[in-house]
Amino acid sequence: MSWDSLVPRPSLVAPGAGVLELDQGTTVGGEPTTAEWFRQHIGAATGLPLPDSPRPTIEFRTDPGESGPGGYRAEIRPGGVEVVAHDAAGAHHAAQTLRQLLDPTAYRSVPIHYGRCVLPCGRVEDRPRFGWRGCHLDVARHFLPKREVLRFIELLAMHKLNVLHLHLTDDQGWRVEVPRFPELTRVGAWRRRSMVGRGEPPQFDDRPHGGYYTVEDLREIVGHAARHHITVVPEVDVPGHSQAAIAAYPELGTGERPQVWDCWGVSDQILNTDPSTSDFYRAVFDHLMDIFPSPVICVGGDEIPGATAEHGAFLRSLIEHVQARGRRASGWDEVLDSVDPLPPDTIIAAWRDERTAIRAADRGHDVVLCPEHRLYFDHRQADHPDEPIPVGYLTTLEDVYAYEPLTERVLGVQAQVWTEHLDTPRRVDYAAFPRLTAFAETAWSRDRDLADFRRRLVDHHLPRLDALGVEYRPLGGPHPWQTRPGVAGRPR
Ligand code: ACM
Repeated sequence: MSWDSLVPRPSLVAPGAGVLELDQGTTVGGEPTTAEWFRQHIGAATGLPLPDSPRPTIEFRTDPGESGPGGYRAEIRPGGVEVVAHDAAGAHHAAQTLRQLLDPTAYRSVPIHYGRCVLPCGRVEDRPRFGWRGCHLDVARHFLPKREVLRFIELLAMHKLNVLHLHLTDDQGWRVEVPRFPELTRVGAWRRRSMVGRGEPPQFDDRPHGGYYTVEDLREIVGHAARHHITVVPEVDVPGHSQAAIAAYPELGTGERPQVWDCWGVSDQILNTDPSTSDFYRAVFDHLMDIFPSPVICVGGDEIPGATAEHGAFLRSLIEHVQARGRRASGWDEVLDSVDPLPPDTIIAAWRDERTAIRAADRGHDVVLCPEHRLYFDHRQADHPDEPIPVGYLTTLEDVYAYEPLTERVLGVQAQVWTEHLDTPRRVDYAAFPRLTAFAETAWSRDRDLADFRRRLVDHHLPRLDALGVEYRPLGGPHPWQTRPGVAGRPR
C-alpha cells in the first residue's frame, strides 16, 4: 500500500525507496500495549508470529521530548521500523498508520492473502490537531449490544479518534446497571414498543425493545477503550430526558408513574428537585465515577421543558459533586443559561449553534464543538429518494468534510450518533460511515483537501472498511437492503 493512502492525512510524509518485508523472522517490541496490539491484529491478518525481541525489527519507543500529546514519528527502512512517539497514545497512532500502510487484508481476522507482506520505506511525522476527537453514541434510544460497542471503539481507534461520549440514559431507556437501584434496569431498560420514523400520524411497531450493560460489561468497555487510547465519557442526562428513570422510580418525577417513553422527541417528564432526588442522583453519579475513570463526566442538561431555577440549582449541585470527586463535569450548552452561576471548569458541548460556542468560550469555559447542522450523523446524508428515514439537516459527506471548527479556545470536536432511527448496528454503520472518516480528518489533520480525501477514501479506505465488514453508505446511495420504503422521515 502507498504513503498517499493514509486517513486521516498525516502532518508530513516523505516517501523513501524500497520496502520492508514482514516475514517469519520479523519481531516487534517497545511500548508494550502497542506492541501487543500490533502483534494481535497484524499477526492474525498475516499469520506471522511477530514475537518480541531485545532488538525488534519494528520498535515502538516513547519519548516525551518527541512531538506533542498523541504525536509520533516513524521511519520505515528495508531493515526495520523505528517509531518514536510522545506517549503511548502516539505509539498506538503509529501502529494504526502502519496497518494502513499494509494492504486492506491487514484488516481481516485471518490471513486470506499469501503474497508478500510489505511496508513501503519512508518517514512520517504526525500529531493531532485537537486533543478531543470525539464521537458520541446514543445507546439509550436503541440499545447497542456490548459486542457492538467494542467493535465501534475499534473503528474509532482506526480513525485516530480518542473520546467515546456514551449517552447512557434517556426518556426511552436506561442502560446502566446500578445495583443499589435495580428498578432502573428492571423497568427502565425496556419499552413495550417503539415509534417507527417521524410520520404523522405516528407509526409504531408492537415489539418490545431494550437492553442494558452490566457493571462488568461497562468495565470491559472502559478497558477495551483504554487499550485503544480512547476515553469513555459517560452521560446520564438530567433533569430532562429522564422518563425511563421516572418510570422506574416515580418519586423522582412530578406526577403519576409514566411508562418508559415509546415516542421520539422531547418528553415533558422531568425530575423534581427534592433533596431525595439529588441524593439519588449523587449515588448514581458515584456509581458512574466508580466504573468510568474518565476525567470528564457528562450530566446532560439539554432540553428541559418547564425548567425552573431549582432545576439549575439541582444541576449545579451535581456538577459540584462531580468536582468534589476530582473530575470535571460537561454539559450540553443549555447549562450556560440554566445553571447560574455555572462552575467555571464545566466543559460545554456546544450543539445548537456557533454563537453559543463563542459565548461559552467568552465566559472562559472549555468547549467541545458538536454542531447539529454539521456533525449530527442521524441526520440525512443525501436527498437521494431512497435515503432511509430522512430526518434533520442535509449533512453530506462533503458537508462534514467542509466543516471548519472555530479553532480558538476549543478542546476539540465531536460527531454525534443519535439512534432514534438507527435501530440496529447495521443502521449505525450506515449513518456513521464514511462520514466519520471525513470527520476524523477534520479532528486530526491540519491540511485538508476534499479531492485528495475522496481519492484516498475511494481507492484505499472504503476497501479497509469492506475488509472489516463495516456496512457504510455507498457514495452513490444505499444498497436496496439499506432503504426503508414506507417509513416517513422528517427532513428539515
Ligand atoms: C441534543 O441534541 N439534545 C444535545
